Amino acid sequence: MPNTFTEPEPSPLLLLLGVGEDPLSERGVDCPGGLPAPSDPDLVERAAAAKEALGDRAFILGHHYQRDEVIAFADVTGDSFKLAQKAAARPESEFIVFCGVHFMAESADILTSDDQIVVLPDMAAGCSMADMAAADQVEAAWRTLEAAGVADVTIPVTYMNSTAAIKAFTGEHGGTICTSSNAEQSLRWAFEHGEKVLFLPDQHLGRNTAVLDLGMDLADCVVFDPHKPGGGLTAQELAQARMILWRGHCSVHGRFTEQSVDEIREKVPGVNVLVHPECRHEVVLKADYVGSTEYIIKTLAAAEPGTSWAIGTELNLVRRLAEQHPDKRIMFLDRTICYCSTMNRIDLPHLVWALESLVEDRVVNQIVVDPETARWARVALDRMLALPGVGATPSD
Ligand code: 13P
Ligand code: SF4
Repeated sequence: MPNTFTEPEPSPLLLLLGVGEDPLSERGVDCPGGLPAPSDPDLVERAAAAKEALGDRAFILGHHYQRDEVIAFADVTGDSFKLAQKAAARPESEFIVFCGVHFMAESADILTSDDQIVVLPDMAAGCSMADMAAADQVEAAWRTLEAAGVADVTIPVTYMNSTAAIKAFTGEHGGTICTSSNAEQSLRWAFEHGEKVLFLPDQHLGRNTAVLDLGMDLADCVVFDPHKPGGGLTAQELAQARMILWRGHCSVHGRFTEQSVDEIREKVPGVNVLVHPECRHEVVLKADYVGSTEYIIKTLAAAEPGTSWAIGTELNLVRRLAEQHPDKRIMFLDRTICYCSTMNRIDLPHLVWALESLVEDRVVNQIVVDPETARWARVALDRMLALPGVGATPSD
């Protein structure tokens, strides 16, 4: 069979943010009224004044990977799971201003009431991992599983880092959502309901959880490549596999290597290596600790003064942790800079623009998930929120 994959045409508006509009993509967006200049010395005062003017009408959520200048105005910070819970628990706020990435804001829209408005200050804040699983590819993959006779015993488990459409597919097909803080519980739940899991879109989180938390063999896992006919797998391989991992990954966490771990251990004797589960399996195997952004924060808060830590996750968070814990030696695991470029799209000018627009009763960059997609996506999200040990609202 011929390979049907063709490279997509690059968008001419890829980086022309705030100055154009691309109706086919979330990249490129007009900012009516104009973005304040990044050099404007009054940005901090403007953000504070707009936030005060909005009061309880607006609830600002900030993911741990956001810039300091944005985190300074967040009412709550968290990992993707905690932020989803916090958005759902805030019915009194008219506006949810989501400082994170697009899929997180979509989840907030799904979990909040119809009369609440979710705003993403920069529509270009997408996620390259979420883009690696398109709805038509996932539908086609399911047909492949049906043809191989395994769809009936397969439960989809979808990482939060996915579009609302993929979450809806998951809900419709009896599956659940997971985040990096509850992937183990989600997989255990799935294996109580089926024999196999289709895990998407992050192959690394799926593999790391299956092997390290559920005790599976690497041989139980196969990788489904949506760009290859039949996923690049035979019906026999699909029949034998327990974990069918979508071929997706995070380009930020993909940068950490085994060599980075070896180098830091050589340079800093006794260093603790702590990585996010989106890192490759070989890297996670060499690490001492693995967990979500919230886990990383809590682990460092509980660490003994004088201890050394090399952290494998996004740089805004690692830098902030190093500043917050001057009594511990906190380093970045890689030698090169490693920001999430899309998380970084949300900066103070975009936040000021979004908040001031709301003050002027002008809603900008609203995230709206269509009702049918939202209905099924909510089914999958609610399954996650109902998992034992997962639904409790964190106290902070
Ligand atoms: P957390 O759920 O750990 O916050 O991770 C989200 C994310 O995008 C990591 O790349
Ligand atoms: Fe997506 Fe990776 Fe950025 Fe997280 S760090 S938002 S997975 S690109």
